[in-house]
Amino acid sequence: MTERTLVLVKPDGVKRGLIGEVISRFEKKGLKLVALKMVKFDRTKGEEFYSVHKDKSFFSDLVNFITSGPIVAMILEGDSAISVVRLMIGSTDGRKAQPGTIRGDFALSIQDNVVHASDSQESFEREYKVIFRDEEIISNY
Ligand code: CMP
Repeated sequence: MTERTLVLVKPDGVKRGLIGEVISRFEKKGLKLVALKMVKFDRTKGEEFYSVHKDKSFFSDLVNFITSGPIVAMILEGDSAISVVRLMIGSTDGRKAQPGTIRGDFALSIQDNVVHASDSQESFEREYKVIFRDEEIISNY
């Protein structure tokens, strides 16, 4: 089934020059880029984006991190895009992520883990609206 998913290149990935590498992997896989922008979250947006984690011990560190620099947000479309992208990014903890995945190849931390991707349809629907307006999604090409 054709699905859409949201991916962020997080501040660490942007600072390390990994935007192109991340986008390239998804393009080569055959996923279609249907929206793309660079943004810098303020505290309100960061807290809204990660609201499901608000009761976690690492929440304030997470918000500090995600607001620490620009991020690149994209919406990808394709068959089973949500699970395919989750497989391609690897486990949350870069130290445990499989080689060949984005985090497995580029991350050595649970916080500075280069990318975020929606974990479900429900998460996608909530997350993309924090960043994109519906008119910014272009899929008819
Ligand atoms: P992400 O996929 O963006 O979803 C929530 C983020 O919280 C996760 O990636 C990590 O960057 C971060 N995170 C998860 N667990 C921890 C933890 N134990 N300590 C610090 N950050 C964490």
